[in-house]
Amino acid sequence: MSYLSATHMTGGYGGADILHDCELSVEKGEIAVIVGPNGAGKSTAMKAVFGMLNIHTGSVVLDGEDITKLSPQERVYKGMGFVPQTSNIFPTMSVEENLEMGAFIRTDDYKTTLEQVYEIFPAVYDKRHQNAGELSGGQRQQVAVSRALMTQPKLLMLDEPTAGVSPIVMDELFDRIIEVAKTGIAVLMVEQNARQALDIADKGYVLVQGTNAYTDTGAALLANPEVRRTFLGG
Ligand SMILES: Nc1ncnc2c1ncn2[C@@H]1O[C@H](COP(=O)(O)OP(=O)(O)O)[C@@H](O)[C@H]1O
Ligand SMILES: [Mg+2]
Repeated sequence: MSYLSATHMTGGYGGADILHDCELSVEKGEIAVIVGPNGAGKSTAMKAVFGMLNIHTGSVVLDGEDITKLSPQERVYKGMGFVPQTSNIFPTMSVEENLEMGAFIRTDDYKTTLEQVYEIFPAVYDKRHQNAGELSGGQRQQVAVSRALMTQPKLLMLDEPTAGVSPIVMDELFDRIIEVAKTGIAVLMVEQNARQALDIADKGYVLVQGTNAYTDTGAALLANPEVRRTFLGG
């Protein structure tokens, strides 16, 4: 079984089901990427894995433990870190305060983690005394990812970390995310920049109408003519 194994996830927000038998998994040190059209249920699937959504069927297993019934906060204690698509920083607080807030569940000394995070994200270190709201979009996303790392997650979930940033900033963010995965963390990421994201993905999921349409290695999906034509613009 994979480090994260979410299987047969079916459910929604109370009305009609959004997810239908959706499945996601990722190993430690690997990057799994979810792509698919707008409204496909990518964010919903992330919320389901994080416990923000009641799935009436299916299960979420982390490191061999069934956590399907746990709250988001309990999942953070189990090793999940989640960076949502929007409102993922506190704009009126300094960058460093944002990171300290990220360590909220820690009762031990988090200073070493802070140093490790600053090492991976030098730009965040440089801006540590500035208000997070004053930073550029790409820098803010780096702060959001850094903040999630402060709980020392074993699984890091990112919902569209490169939304609204330039191609150069996107490449930079992806490089940082690769570095995070190399530390042994499992990364599960939703991405609109499908080609570039699949290029760095160990595994890719194409989600359509709440269902897995294609699952393969990132490279295989990029080479699949049907996936290219339908989801990658040729
Ligand atoms: N909070 C919500 N309440 C009800 N429906 C929602 C909510 N969030 C998203 N949806 C619906 O769920 C579907 C999937 O949305 P979403 O997961 O945000 O798609 P994606 O992230 O792939 O663009 C859409 O039809 C959307 O309207
Ligand atoms: Mg979304």
